[in-house]
Amino acid sequence: MTLNELARQTAVQFQQTFHREPHWIAAAPGRVNVIGEHTDYNDGFVLPMAIDRYTVIAAAPNGSSQVTLHSGAAQSPASLDLAQPLKPGPKGYWANYPVGVIAGFVARGLKPAGFDAVISSTVPLGGGLSSSAALEVAAATLLEVITGQKLDPVEKALLCQKAEHDYAGMPCGIMDQFISVMGKENHLLLLDCRSRQPELVPMTDPSVALLITNTNVKHELTGGGYAQRRAQCEQAAKTLGVRSLRDATEDMLLQARGRMDETVFRRARHVIGEIKRTVLAAREVRASNWPVAGQLMYASHASLRDDYQVSCDELDVVVDIGRAIGPQGGVLGCRMTGGGFGGCAVALVRADHVDAISKRVAAEYEQRAKIKPTLFVSRPAAGALVLKP
Ligand code: GLA
Repeated sequence: MTLNELARQTAVQFQQTFHREPHWIAAAPGRVNVIGEHTDYNDGFVLPMAIDRYTVIAAAPNGSSQVTLHSGAAQSPASLDLAQPLKPGPKGYWANYPVGVIAGFVARGLKPAGFDAVISSTVPLGGGLSSSAALEVAAATLLEVITGQKLDPVEKALLCQKAEHDYAGMPCGIMDQFISVMGKENHLLLLDCRSRQPELVPMTDPSVALLITNTNVKHELTGGGYAQRRAQCEQAAKTLGVRSLRDATEDMLLQARGRMDETVFRRARHVIGEIKRTVLAAREVRASNWPVAGQLMYASHASLRDDYQVSCDELDVVVDIGRAIGPQGGVLGCRMTGGGFGGCAVALVRADHVDAISKRVAAEYEQRAKIKPTLFVSRPAAGALVLKP
């Protein structure tokens, strides 16, 4: 479904739910990270792109201080009163994301008037493609139009990240919100997570494509493994005497090995190597040197699997299948993407082989993992946008 079709469908749902036309429509995309995993909260580099899967919010004023949010994906609507102080609902509550964003606007003195909204999405929920960032950024984009105050893009991404920290209880880095705000068609985004300086990397070569395989498994529901990895990275930085692992080198780490728990050592080895690979990969993408970029993706996966230990059997199966197909069959590289413990893998493939590769990955994955995967190709897509101002 295209973004315009999704927007039309959401407008129809709004009409059916609230018996009037929506006044505003805003959208924000999910993302796939090509390389640079678990580096954002270590002040490192990431190289994601927005995908052409969006979360759309259609809304209209309701003349009260109430906000009513309907979501196609949720059982029951959420409502809140802007005249009362906002607070997060129970952990895992879907509306925590938009409510956290509204709270961020209120904290900046940008309190909206009451409104009704309908939310729908083509970003698979909880599939490691940043469905939560898409929801936050779509909500922030809607609030920009409602309040008539356009935020600076960096401030907007940080407001959404804070919503995720404070309202959803997930101590995420800045990658997902940044790419959902700043994505650009036909470009990857090389983001320096320390300076927050984004750099667009063109990816226009029609001979390659990014094939996303959703394993359709999620092994970790609480985010505990993520927070633990963050803490281990901080511990490693402390032992090395640096502000963050961005400032550490492999040599420094090897010298400190005896003073470090082996697990912490491995976590740091992943991060230091991954930051390097990400910068190299951006260079290779710029040069359309796809075989080398693909090798860096395989190396990233191995490091995430063995040192960072955030992969899982199903993701490893997809990467194994990619390797078995190999460059002759059109697969140049493959890796898990996102936080891990399930979710999606991303493969760099020859565009004219996409159909054959998709069929083979789907069949072999289903045979080995006993689960049906979902596969799709995405060009680098546009970041958040207003469809009806
Ligand atoms: C999740 C987080 C991001 C990032 C990735 C891992 O998607 O939201 O900030 O840390 O995991 O790279």
